[in-house]
Amino acid sequence: MSNPSQSELIHTFKGIPFTTRSSPELLKCLDTFDAREDDVVLVSYPKSGTHWLAGVITKLYNTQVTLTSPIEFGDVSRLEELNKLSSKRIIPTHLDYNMLPPNFKNKKCKMIYISRNPKDTAVSMYHYYRDNPNLPTIDTWTAFFDLFLKGDVVCGSWFDHFLSWEEHENDRNILFLFYEDMKKDLPKIVKEIILFLGLNISENDIQDICKKSSFSEMKHDTEKENSDPSHTVCALTSNRKLIFRKGTVGDWKNHFTPKQNLRFEEIFNEKMKLSKM
Ligand code: A3P
Repeated sequence: MSNPSQSELIHTFKGIPFTTRSSPELLKCLDTFDAREDDVVLVSYPKSGTHWLAGVITKLYNTQVTLTSPIEFGDVSRLEELNKLSSKRIIPTHLDYNMLPPNFKNKKCKMIYISRNPKDTAVSMYHYYRDNPNLPTIDTWTAFFDLFLKGDVVCGSWFDHFLSWEEHENDRNILFLFYEDMKKDLPKIVKEIILFLGLNISENDIQDICKKSSFSEMKHDTEKENSDPSHTVCALTSNRKLIFRKGTVGDWKNHFTPKQNLRFEEIFNEKMKLSKM
């Protein structure tokens, strides 16, 4: 069977590339989504550590919680399906702030935004594209690097995504986290999350949760699972090995040429000149 064409895999909605697994009809009706006050929204640009964060958060509750696939994934029936779920719902999304269903904002739902060094994000996304038949074929790292900088990849420009959320970093219902901080001191970040979510968890349990959320444990756990992609955070693959690739900080150094690094820095400095990052 021949590879699916770019247009069979990608479409553009409001200027942002989405995979065809996010139907235009669903994207159009996201604004009507009925959020609940106790929903927790996990926000990220792809490949920023979404699964890691989701893995931590689902371990924090001792009551029943449902981790859904990203809200923008599926067809129009998606919202109805989400409506049928009992609380508490943990809902991931890669949407930028302006596309988020307004009800999440009106109801002041708690949202956690996880970000990662965009150079490592780009490298992680490159491998994900390369190994995932549900994404367009990428021939070389150089070709992907250009697409990433242009924002011509799923979920659009990293810079636009980050900036749209950073504008709201002081909103009381939004917690900003960084992948690198989780790598450096996971218990510290877990405590921040616990405080933000208003939970009460013992020091021993925190240590246990951190142990179970290490890269090796999570990778090992998912290898045992036979998960349905439409019910997991990464809705684009059932091959969990694609998600738990390397889990390190600084892998970009193994991919970027000095010239690419310079170009990236120039664009970063220009686009992020108003950012606090
Ligand atoms: P790499 O491709 O650099 O290894 P997302 O969940 O947003 O798709 O992000 C995937 C990235 O997070 C991958 O990065 C993956 O290895 C990394 N990751 C997943 N779980 C992790 C963990 N427990 N600790 C550290 N990194 C993790």
